[in-house]
Amino acid sequence: MPPAIEPEAVDRIALLGAGTIGASWAAHFLARGFAVSAHDPAPDGERRMRDYIARVWPMLEQLGLRPGADPDRVSFHADPAAAVRDAPFVQENAPERLEVKRELFAAAEPGLAPEAVVASSSSGLLVSDIQEGRAGPERYVLGHPFNPPHLIPLVEVVGGRRTDPAVVDWTVAFYNAHGKRAIRINKEVLAHVANRLQAAMWREAVHLVNEGVASVEDVDVAIAYGPGLRWAIMGPHLTFHLAGGEGGMRHYLEHLGPSKQVWWADLGQPELTPEVNAKLIAGVDAEARGRSPRELAAERDALLVALMRTLHNTREALARADEHPHEHGRELDR
Ligand SMILES: NC(=O)c1ccc[n+]([C@@H]2O[C@H](COP(=O)([O-])OP(=O)(O)OC[C@H]3O[C@@H](n4cnc5c(N)ncnc54)[C@H](O)[C@@H]3O)[C@@H](O)[C@H]2O)c1
Repeated sequence: MPPAIEPEAVDRIALLGAGTIGASWAAHFLARGFAVSAHDPAPDGERRMRDYIARVWPMLEQLGLRPGADPDRVSFHADPAAAVRDAPFVQENAPERLEVKRELFAAAEPGLAPEAVVASSSSGLLVSDIQEGRAGPERYVLGHPFNPPHLIPLVEVVGGRRTDPAVVDWTVAFYNAHGKRAIRINKEVLAHVANRLQAAMWREAVHLVNEGVASVEDVDVAIAYGPGLRWAIMGPHLTFHLAGGEGGMRHYLEHLGPSKQVWWADLGQPELTPEVNAKLIAGVDAEARGRSPRELAAERDALLVALMRTLHNTREALARADEHPHEHGRELDR
């Protein structure tokens, strides 16, 4: 059974594991006005998490804070059972090893409220394996974020063999009510959905570099300055629906479907051998032109915030224009 509390009414969350992903989740929920209680066994875990929140807080201010948002509304607990006590929702972000997560859940269980939902951020483990041997296996779900969760809205939700479908529904509604964009995955697959799509794209990118068709930088430009711009707005299906003109997807499939099949048959199957790896490493070094990963990440995040603000404001203006067509021109001119 999902929590009796409505997903929109939740205002506190527990985090198990406060590293890269856990600290970013903390920042997200604090910015939404939540109280956050966290557990991480690393001796410097609390300091790292607080430093991270302080570093990203100005960016969250730019995106817009919710009432009650406060970077200090976070408590830290040595005992996982104390961290999860009274929290209707627990987000787990411990290292990606099944036995570590299982031990952590066993230690947290005595503190869990009877109807608390437990979501794992795991990139590759199956909920069906995680929930095995747990008290209340029906409460365990996947809540897989995209890094960094305080900026990227996507969360992938799927239940395991023993998850209550109502818990999956509740979890999707919970994330959507609190600034995330959740999708429901209907069956467990390795790497979920978004990472599979990324893997398919990157496989062909590596193939093109390895075959000498284009440089690492030019392959990156081909995405970031081309289809990537459209993909920030709509996915590949709706994009091709529009490529079919007035006839939409039906016309697109009749017209261009057969050629897509020929292209699919020609796509590469590269292997990450030492030689291929060396080409990729030299390629990104050239593309980075001396900028460190930290500098590049700061640039990416600044652009991401600008893009997300623009998308958010323009979507709102378009929705308002839909509701009040007579104000259409004026709204979008602002
Ligand atoms: N990094 C990503 O891009 C990314 C994206 C989506 C999902 N994930 C998933 O998020 C989870 C965490 O990954 P990460 O990148 O934050 O790793 P990380 O190494 O940055 O953080 C893991 C944290 O867990 C802590 N920890 C160690 N043992 C623990 C225990 N027994 N109980 C609680 N905490 C413990 C560590 O001290 C560390 O702070 C993984 O399941 C990973 O698959 C990662």
